[in-house]
Formats: sequence, C-alpha cells, structure tokens
Amino acid sequence: MTTATAQSHPNIAAIKYWGNRDNALRLPVNGSISMNLGGLYARTTVTFSASKNDALSINNHAVIGKGLERVSYILDLVRSMANIKEKAEVSSENNFPAGAGIASSAAAFAALALAASKAAGLNLSEPELSRLARRGSGSASRSIPAGFVEWRVGASEEDSYAFSIAPVGHWNLVDCVAIVSVAHKKTGSTEGHAIAGTSPLQNTRVADTPRRLDICRRAILTRDFESFANIIEHDSDMMHAVMMTSNPPLMYWQPATVGIFHAVRDWRSKGLPVGYTVDAGANVHIMCLGDYAKEVETKLRELPGVSDVLVAGVGGAAQVIESALRSTL
Ligand code: DP6
Repeated sequence: MTTATAQSHPNIAAIKYWGNRDNALRLPVNGSISMNLGGLYARTTVTFSASKNDALSINNHAVIGKGLERVSYILDLVRSMANIKEKAEVSSENNFPAGAGIASSAAAFAALALAASKAAGLNLSEPELSRLARRGSGSASRSIPAGFVEWRVGASEEDSYAFSIAPVGHWNLVDCVAIVSVAHKKTGSTEGHAIAGTSPLQNTRVADTPRRLDICRRAILTRDFESFANIIEHDSDMMHAVMMTSNPPLMYWQPATVGIFHAVRDWRSKGLPVGYTVDAGANVHIMCLGDYAKEVETKLRELPGVSDVLVAGVGGAAQVIESALRSTL
C-alpha cells in the first residue's frame, strides 16, 4: 500500500481560459495567465491498495457519480503511466468555503495529480504534472507552478501546460474576493466551455488573446498596476460578453456584481490601485496592491449586497506534504 498527500492553491485568472479545442483532453482555444492564491488550499491524500473500487471523499463526505468518475479518469492516467492496477482511496479537504467564487476544482485536481503520481511511485516533472492536472480541470494546470503562471495554449497535448512567469515574491498583489452570492451556479465551467463556440464573439475574443496575454505578462513583469487593472477588466468583460451571447446564454452577474464594477472603477479613477475580474459566477475578485488590501476590504464590506470578503496574497507551487510506503500488515 502506498500513499501520498499533496497540497495546492487555487488560482485566479487575469487572462481567462474559456473554450476548448478538444473538450476530452482539455486543450484550450487560448492561453491564460493567473496568480496562485496563497493561504487557501486543497489538501489531498491518495492511497493505492487492494480495494475493489476507487473511492472519493471531499471534506469528509463520500462522493460518487460524476465527481468520482472525474477523479478515476485521472487515476487511470496515473495507473497506466506507472503500470499499476491498484484502486485508490482519495480524500480531499479545502480550507476555503464552497460557493466563495473560488474554483475548488483547480486546487483539487492539482493536488490530486501530484498526490496520485507520487503515491504511484512516479516522479513527474512540473510540465508533466501540469498536463496531468489539466486533464482533470483546465485551470488546475495553473495551480502546479508557483506565483504568477502562464498556461500556454500549445500546439499539441504534450506542450499545453503551465509554467511560472514570476515567483511569489515578485509583486505584492492581493485578491479580495467580494462574496455577493453563495448559490450553486446553474451552469458550471465544463458545460460553459462546451458552448463557448456558439457565441459569434468567441472567435474575435480568441484571435485577440495574444495581444491581451502580451499586455498582461508585461504588466506583471514590470509591476505596472494601471495596465494590469485595465487588461484584467477588459479580459473579464470580453469573456462575459461571450458567455452572455452563447446559446444558451449564460448570465453570471447579479446586480451587486455590476455595482462593484462601478465602485472599483470609481476608486481607481481617484488613485486607489484596484481592478476587478469575475469567473463563472457572481462574486467579484478585486485585485489590488498589497499595501491597500485592508482599505479595499473595508470599502468592499460597505457596498450593498456584499456579504463577505476573502483575502489572499500570492501563493506558491503545489507541494508534496507526505509520501510513504506502508506495509499492508
Ligand atoms: C472562468 O478550469 O474550471 O474560471 O476544465 O471544465 O474544469 P474545467 O473548467 P475550469 O474553467 C475555468 C474558467 C474560468 C476562467 C479561468 O480560470 O481561466
């Protein structure tokens, strides 16, 4: 019996991934850039043993059906790489609340890829781990490397992986997540990616992505907050324009979401270094310079419709916490 535990952070995309050219392999139609969210993590233990079936528990609740199938798919890839047949028991915990507007799948599949490969006796390279995590959830590819990360669109399955473009200490950015809704979203990212191509705006968005990636990468590397804020808002708005115009249309924003956009732009025009970005949900990620995080958090809590604010700085790479060969006796 072999076991390993790994931990990884969720991430927030500054340039978003929306749409696949191959849904099964999760090969994206465009590259993306993100920042890992420090202090927030998924911790996953994988134990291979002689049991009959794979089993999964998340936050101490047994999961079956689609959730378990998605995990078994990654375990199957690991088993074939390691040439083993044992089934696995997977238990995963998040230290951040569900419905907080932070995708738990990114952290969960990054931790699963690392823990499962370690427990199977593999020593995968960072690109190999990123590719494996990608097969579980596209954005999970970006939770493998440290700090500020770019996921290259790639020409094939082999070269679509994420790598670090700047380390954790490079820039003191903070993500203040304004919670406006904890309701479970009706359409998840996986279904959303599958219909992205039905929007007449998607091709234009995808064709323009190299430009946005260049601006964002440069803004991060030169610590140019004004350019960073402008490009993340522009990119998020473009993705939501695609969502709203796809078939069926996806409208993730709530009135309070839009209220926050106006407030953030008003604060920035008055000199506060803030910018917003929104994933497939109603909650708003407000990125700011670390020195202003307290002030931003206080201001957000005063806005109508904001029920809570979560605060996270830049996070490191996915890590193995424990790995052991256990005797079955
Ligand atoms: C809007 O990675 O959650 O958050 O591969 O189906 O699990 P699956 O999708 P996922 O999509 C993320 C979409 C996004 C933008 C982003 O994080 O880049």
